[in-house]
Amino acid sequence: MIAKEIFQSSLAVRDPISFIRENRPFETSSVLTDSLSVKDNRTGKQYEIPIAEDAIRAAELRKIKVSDSELGVLSYDPSLANTASCRSKITFIDGDAGILRYRGYPIEEIAEKKEYLEVAYLLINGEFPSKGEYETWSKNITYHTNVHENVKKFMDGFHYDAHPMGMLVSSVAALSTFYPDAKQIFQEQSRQLQIYRLVGKIPTLAAFAYRHSQGMPYNYPRNDLSYSENFLSMMFRPPGYSPYHPDPVLAKALNVLFILHADHEQNCSSTAMRVVGSSHVDPFSAAAAAIAGLYGPLHGGANEEVVRMLEEIGSKEKVPEIIRQVKEGKRLLFGFGHRIYKNYDPRAQIIKKMADNVFGVTGKNSLLEIALELEKTALSDDYFIKRKLYPNVDFYSGLIYQAIGLPVEMFPVVFAIARMSGWLAQWQEMLLDSEQKIARPRQIYTGYAERHIDSK
Ligand code: ACO
Repeated sequence: MIAKEIFQSSLAVRDPISFIRENRPFETSSVLTDSLSVKDNRTGKQYEIPIAEDAIRAAELRKIKVSDSELGVLSYDPSLANTASCRSKITFIDGDAGILRYRGYPIEEIAEKKEYLEVAYLLINGEFPSKGEYETWSKNITYHTNVHENVKKFMDGFHYDAHPMGMLVSSVAALSTFYPDAKQIFQEQSRQLQIYRLVGKIPTLAAFAYRHSQGMPYNYPRNDLSYSENFLSMMFRPPGYSPYHPDPVLAKALNVLFILHADHEQNCSSTAMRVVGSSHVDPFSAAAAAIAGLYGPLHGGANEEVVRMLEEIGSKEKVPEIIRQVKEGKRLLFGFGHRIYKNYDPRAQIIKKMADNVFGVTGKNSLLEIALELEKTALSDDYFIKRKLYPNVDFYSGLIYQAIGLPVEMFPVVFAIARMSGWLAQWQEMLLDSEQKIARPRQIYTGYAERHIDSK
């Protein structure tokens, strides 16, 4: 069905709330196995709070109150570090054991055996596609790789040195103005179409942002190439009719990097996708918020910072001095540490192994030596051992991106291309979860009590 038809037929769809209630059976939690006994020492009252799936429902705490007029006890959790905000079937991480699985499959197996688009299908639909399903899926995504010609006009409006992540945030948000049918988020067919569009168009927008910053003409997508080959071709094909054949080793490496970055459960950007999406806005606007979340140096922007940091260090000999500054709290060691992994990030291990293949084609990245020395020094230092700080996915990925020929500003952009499938999987799961409502946390107010403006 074409977009216009979807839009028109969706006008007949009932309001979203009744749609949720009628169509989404409530998924009951697993049988209660245990409970927490809590005594409120203000009142002497005792409460039994059920524990299921190693969690208590925060709403249960509201029963704990001194008087009926009170709201009840809140849980205070800045940065949501110990709060599960959803139940999810998409990605499993065991941070202590260094395990990452998509839909149950270990990341190591997926990275070795699968194409990125198969993985995108797995994340969004729950299973790997059959041969027929994969053909239809990749054909539909390929069909949606082109963008409206007007996109080039507003891309041209960006300053010559605009950061490509800024251009990506804006252009993905702008797509919502081209596709008003995307508002029909409770129509399965419409959701599917927006998924094709977002997965299909994000490499095109990313490559356009790069070409604009280089002052080079935009390259249109080539539908005969694989997802990663097409991205390399849009990035690097010289102007005119010059032939361009992406190196198969580099295309394969990019495919693996796309897979490794495709999802990572409730990280900052996926949380942004879910939170913004919970207002029932269209997925282009929600995805723009997710890309903005990814842009920050503590998240997807870290790979960019790693290379800048290695360039600044400049030689192996300066590593001890940098480690000293980190330990004195004067700087962060970018690419190290993770909220969840307190052991080696399994993605970093795969990338480190893959680096040799890439450098075999491109020649060794001179920063690799410094990175290896930095890792060795940090991992034998008490500061890092005590805090369980290991290299994360961003520590080595930047070196590969650089070897492929990407400027540092493009690193988080490549991350965003890969993460689009994960964001969409998280977004759809959130929409179809009957327990989810608009995200609206509470606060502990610490400002003035009531006061008045002087009448002078
Ligand atoms: N360099 C130096 N010290 C660090 C680092 C680091 N990279 N990471 C954490 N620490 C220290 C903290 O200062 C803190 O020390 P303290 O206990 O003496 O105060 C301790 O380790 C615990 O760190 P937190 O900041 O509490 O850990 P948190 O889980 O909040 O932060 C984060 C995780 C943001 C990833 C952090 O490790 C960091 O800033 N790393 C550098 C940026 C980075 O590489 N980000 C990419 C993450 S992967 C991704 O998003 C794709």
